[in-house]
Amino acid sequence: MSGGTKPGAMWGGRFDEPPAELFKRFNDSLPIDWRMVQQDIAASIAWARELHAVGVLSEHECQRITEGLNDVARHAATLPGPPLASGLEDVHTWVEHELVQRLGDLGKKLHTGRSRNDLVSTDIRLWTRDCILERRRELAELRRAFLDIADRHAHDPMPAYTHLQPAQPVTIGHWALAYEAMLARDSARLLSALDRVNECPLGCGALAGTAYAIDRHRLASALGFARPSGNSLDAASDRDFALETLAVFAACAVHLSRLAEDMIIYNSAEFALVKLSDRVTTGSSLMPQKKNPDALELIRGKCGRIAGAHAQLLMLLKAQPLAYNKDNQEDKAALFDASDELSLCLRIAVLVMDTTTFDLERCRARASAGYANATELADYLVARGVPFREAHEVAGKAVRVALAAGQPLEALPLEALRAIHGAIDADVYDVLTLEATLSKRRAFAGTAPSRVDEARAAARTRLASEQA
Ligand code: ARG
Repeated sequence: MSGGTKPGAMWGGRFDEPPAELFKRFNDSLPIDWRMVQQDIAASIAWARELHAVGVLSEHECQRITEGLNDVARHAATLPGPPLASGLEDVHTWVEHELVQRLGDLGKKLHTGRSRNDLVSTDIRLWTRDCILERRRELAELRRAFLDIADRHAHDPMPAYTHLQPAQPVTIGHWALAYEAMLARDSARLLSALDRVNECPLGCGALAGTAYAIDRHRLASALGFARPSGNSLDAASDRDFALETLAVFAACAVHLSRLAEDMIIYNSAEFALVKLSDRVTTGSSLMPQKKNPDALELIRGKCGRIAGAHAQLLMLLKAQPLAYNKDNQEDKAALFDASDELSLCLRIAVLVMDTTTFDLERCRARASAGYANATELADYLVARGVPFREAHEVAGKAVRVALAAGQPLEALPLEALRAIHGAIDADVYDVLTLEATLSKRRAFAGTAPSRVDEARAAARTRLASEQA
């Protein structure tokens, strides 16, 4: 005999031998799916009601099963972790086993007409529904942090980059609202995914549908689902809803990694645009002067893990024949881990953004440096009838002259500028100021302080209405 305990409690009938110990460890999912114990019980209670409605359970039996399941739920809530000593295969088996312990043979009626295939899918959907709502709450909190920065620094200038080269000045408010916009889209994507998560597979049986005259619409609404899933063969093994949720998590993690990178760079001694607080940085064991942006580096690093979970589920689903296959048991590890990690990243990002200070003087100085106003000179010439391509060339020459002189554009004397192009006059200095550069970008979505004011008010209203 190859070791092992007893044949699976739920399916031992046709087996002579118990599973090998090693295989049992390989096969059991209780350590992971334990997290869905409350969902499994909720689904079971709703199922018992339907069994009563079709006459499988009497009123009294249904009531006893419901009470029994509620008792199991209370017991489960007191356990510190998965009850591995039970030796049971998965959370569904555990719940049923506990019920039978309490009710004897009556507990054995619960699994009538259902399968673990429709049950597990229902449990994951219930779990994912809550998970989406929680991640959206955390997203809202991070958006709030960016809106606070936008309020504090609506009009303060900072440099903005393309290719990590100083490009044009923007306001800090505009920068903060850029991240708020990404997170708002992630939140909207989650809401859209929720619509497809919110379907009830229970009553689809193993794959062909249940043989009992269950009212699946009533069952779905009892569990708060928008509708029952429409094809039992599909529903028994569909995990798109989790795939889609993980895709949004991955996109959100990518946004957070961009934020982390911005902040790491801005916090570096070379840029010094922001100062991270001691509360989210660490020291070096060797170099006493160091203050390392570990919180941000971990956010950046965990992006790989979260995006990896999406790739993991995608590959898990690839080429699975209809319908349920045990491969699907691997879905939960990916989903749970990505959700936990994203939750941490979002909450840490709030802590970082709430405690970071901007060095306003340095931001202003860097916004004016690096010839970020070269575009203004070109636009100035355009206003004087010079075609843009020529104006661009002239402004480029002016930058070269200024570079050689080690001066910003606006420090070049008028004669020097006129030597480059005769259309340049004394009023050019007005357009080369930081304030002029910012306030000119007044078209919708631009960084002009008046637009930033509008945008942050709109973003606040949108966030408030989403939360209502
Ligand atoms: N533990 C399984 C899972 O997570 C439950 C479904 C088992 N179904 C089956 N036909 N073996 O997928």
